[in-house]
Amino acid sequence: MEVGGDKRKENNLQNVNRIQKVIGFIGAGNMAKAIGEGLIKSGAVDASQIYISAPTQRNIGTWMELGAHTSDNNGFVVKNADVIILAMKPQYLDAALAETSDSLGDWLPNTKLFISVLGGIRIDTLEEKLKKIVIRPRVIRAMPNTPMMVQEGCSAFCRSISATDEDVKITHQIFSAGGRCEMIPESLMNAVSAVSGSGPAFIFVMMEALADGAVKMGIPRASSIELVAQTVLGSAKMVLESGQHPGQLKDSVCSPGGSSICGINVLERAGVRGVLMDAIEATVKRSEEMGKLS
Ligand SMILES: NC(=O)c1ccc[n+]([C@@H]2O[C@H](COP(=O)([O-])OP(=O)(O)OC[C@H]3O[C@@H](n4cnc5c(N)ncnc54)[C@H](OP(=O)(O)O)[C@@H]3O)[C@@H](O)[C@H]2O)c1
Repeated sequence: MEVGGDKRKENNLQNVNRIQKVIGFIGAGNMAKAIGEGLIKSGAVDASQIYISAPTQRNIGTWMELGAHTSDNNGFVVKNADVIILAMKPQYLDAALAETSDSLGDWLPNTKLFISVLGGIRIDTLEEKLKKIVIRPRVIRAMPNTPMMVQEGCSAFCRSISATDEDVKITHQIFSAGGRCEMIPESLMNAVSAVSGSGPAFIFVMMEALADGAVKMGIPRASSIELVAQTVLGSAKMVLESGQHPGQLKDSVCSPGGSSICGINVLERAGVRGVLMDAIEATVKRSEEMGKLS
């Protein structure tokens, strides 16, 4: 996770090995799109190497246009793919696996890798549920984020005991095609989910609010959004590339007696740091609850 910005992108493009496996997605929504677009745009896979299923046509059209193999039958994906990414909402996991099992008719040997991106669902639960369709399932639990669509994603994953070193390698290849990726212990997955999985939603809210402030001060909406977006992009790049602590970088913007420190004063009085920390904690707690419900 050490290289930043354009340099990392350049390295990524050089390092993206073509993935020779067939990649399946059960669920065709936002997360499948983010991972799939990362894979296709980086050149790691062709759309024709992707098999994808969803119960309705709501999201399937985009995939058909790209040239992926689509179906409303989850068994079609499991039969054809080497690596199957579970990308439905956690509450639909049981239904999705029941449909798969009905369509397959018999247990599969453990020749396929299952990668779950479902928030909160632990590896032991996934293994238990997957035993309905596979003998000794090989499972990886991953947490990507939507910026994978623009190859600036940030993903973490953990492996099960049954996953092989080759499974770890292919998982790394899949997720680093869309940005940064690292393996972590499962005990940190819910925390990582809150920071980088849900994080884009928090950042978008802050960006919208900053743009509203700019509009309030008379800047047209489109320019306000562009100013904010470039500011967030540049600030993130400075943190990644300078190696300086964000506090140091903040200090370098705030001149003594200047205008920036007056804005900071308002943020601090409103408790912005505590609120953001509470947001992370609330998100982790909800992931833990979701894990217990499944
Ligand atoms: N969105 C994020 O930023 C993010 C980040 C990290 C992890 N995740 C995780 O990614 C997963 C998917 O989230 P999302 O935002 O992509 O949701 P989404 O946009 O609502 O997409 C869910 C997909 O699952 C499909 N689906 C529903 N029931 C199904 C079934 N029985 N069999 C097969 N497919 C089924 C839906 O079908 P239709 O197309 O027919 O509706 C849809 O294509 C969640 O578990 C979430 O925790 C999301």
